[in-house]
Order: sequence, then structure tokens, then C-alpha cells
Amino acid sequence: MELLQEKIKQNGKVLSENVLKVDSFLNHQVDPILMQAIGDEFADRFRDCGITKVLTLESSGIAPSMMTALNLGVPFVFARKRKSLTLVNDLITSEVYSFTKQETNTIAISKEFIGPSDRVLIIDDFLANGEAALGLLDLVQKAEAEAVGVGIVIEKSFQDGGKKLRNQGIQVESLAQIRSLQAGRVQFLEEVQHETTTA
Ligand code: G4P
Repeated sequence: MELLQEKIKQNGKVLSENVLKVDSFLNHQVDPILMQAIGDEFADRFRDCGITKVLTLESSGIAPSMMTALNLGVPFVFARKRKSLTLVNDLITSEVYSFTKQETNTIAISKEFIGPSDRVLIIDDFLANGEAALGLLDLVQKAEAEAVGVGIVIEKSFQDGGKKLRNQGIQVESLAQIRSLQAGRVQFLEEVQHETTTA
């Protein structure tokens, strides 16, 4: 997605060979015009899949999920990482280990909002090692719903989350795929493929 790649090139900051900071439009301040375009793109890619719910994980998945759900005309649900005062009964939970933070979070949704008749599209901001996406897939399975696919705003293709999901036969649609963050530079997978085909 060209608009997203441009935004990453202009505003993304490479913090290390593994971490890209996008606080100015996705992880802290949010660009609503870009989120709308992202929502439109995900909706187009999954339009014919009969989706009834979009599912994400708080907090940075919320903005792109909401715009996708708006376009598809369905509700979205965000799994919680922290205990909620009101979300106490009929919980479905899963454990998610973060390699980046080296901690495990229990994520939870209510049975009330995702059930056996749902076809679920999972959306998240980053795909790194895939732990968050696998945790969300586990919630969908425990809810006896069907996971239709996974939409990712930024996939770091040099980490193995994408491979783990695709090897399970899951449709993964990533709007930007980063091949490398080496030498302080963002290199997109698409650029490499383009260079190879035009060489
Ligand atoms: P995984 O789920 O793919 O295994 O990823 P990992 O444990 O490595 O990531 C944990 C958190 O770090 C997630 O956010 C994820 O989105 C974020 N993250 C991973 N790699 C990057 C990166 O290169 N840049 C940025 N900006 N974030 C990254 P989170 O803790 O759930 O945060 P939030 O949703 O509350 O903002």
C-alpha cells in the first residue's frame, strides 16, 4: 500500500535492527486519514469473505480495526490485556508471550460478542513473532467461531510471525512488508521484488 509506505519512509524511525518507531501516526498519535485508507484496503481484500466481526488487541490495533469494521458494516471487538471492572463473566482467555517485552499477558474477550455463528477477521498493527495473532486465533477457536484471515498494517518479514501463520494455511494480508531495518534504513519487500523483476 503506497500511502502507508510513504508515511513509513517519511515518519518512521528505525530504533534498532528489529524495531521501527511509528508513534507519529499509528502507535501513539494516530493519523485518521491514513487509518481510513487502511480500513478501506483491508475491507477490499476481505470483502467477499462473509465477515461478521473484526477482532483486534488493544491498544494500537483499535484504530485500523474500527475503520475496517466501519467499511465492512460489522462491529469490531478488542481483546483486553488488562483486567476490566465490567468484563468479568463468560470470559474466553489466552496467554500471549511478547518476545520484545519478555512478558506474558492474558488476553480476554467476552463470549457475548464472538460466538459459533461468527466469521472473524483479525487485525493488528504489527506482525513480528506472531504471538499476538496466534493468541487472537486461539480466542476465536475457543469461541467456536471461524477465523477468516489476518490483516496486518506492518509486517516485519525478517521475523517469523508471517511464516508461522501462513504455514497454518491462514490468509495473511499485510499492507506493508518490511524486509530489513539494517543500517538505519527501512527496506520494503516489495522494493526488493521490484528490483529483482526489473533487473
Ligand atoms: P508478536 O505479537 O508479533 O509476537 O510481537 P512482539 O511480542 O514482538 O510485540 C509486542 C508488542 O510490540 C506489540 O505491541 C507489537 O505490536 C509491538 N511491536 C513489535 N515489533 C514492533 C516494531 O518494530 N515497532 C513497533 N512500533 N511496535 C512493535 P503492544 O505491546 O501490544 O502495543 P500496543 O498495541 O498496546 O501499542
